[in-house]
Amino acid sequence: GASVEVDVSKLQPGEKLVVEWRGKPVWVMRRTPEQLASLEQVEDQLADPNSERKAYPTPPYAKNRHRSIKPEYLVAVGICTHLGCSPVDKLQPGPQPSLPDDWKGGFLCPCHGSTFDMAGRVFKNKPAPDNLEIPPHHYVSDTVVLIG
Ligand code: FES
Repeated sequence: GASVEVDVSKLQPGEKLVVEWRGKPVWVMRRTPEQLASLEQVEDQLADPNSERKAYPTPPYAKNRHRSIKPEYLVAVGICTHLGCSPVDKLQPGPQPSLPDDWKGGFLCPCHGSTFDMAGRVFKNKPAPDNLEIPPHHYVSDTVVLIG
């Protein structure tokens, strides 16, 4: 149950690293300006854009469009809220197999096709009942985040 410290200073825009916390993969991703802009563009296609659902309650400090403390940095559990598969990166915008033509980038669960935006928010009419879980976390310095 120990907390995990992550130094985000080396992450380039668009890069994601994965750390393990309580046996779960936790993503720490630095989003590009384009990826941040996409969050508003997809909002009307999302099941719960304001993170109000309670299956995996979103901490108050992440109940915002970017679902994070600092807009650039996403910290999210990389486990689908449907049946626990690991969503894969589909970060490139544009048409891709099994994704809509206007895909703006995000994540796809290979098991039953749930799709998530660049903040881990699930799209409408997908099997996943909730957005990706945001683990408890806070910054201990400008560039170090403590998960747990
Ligand atoms: Fe992800 Fe079913 S486990 S869609």
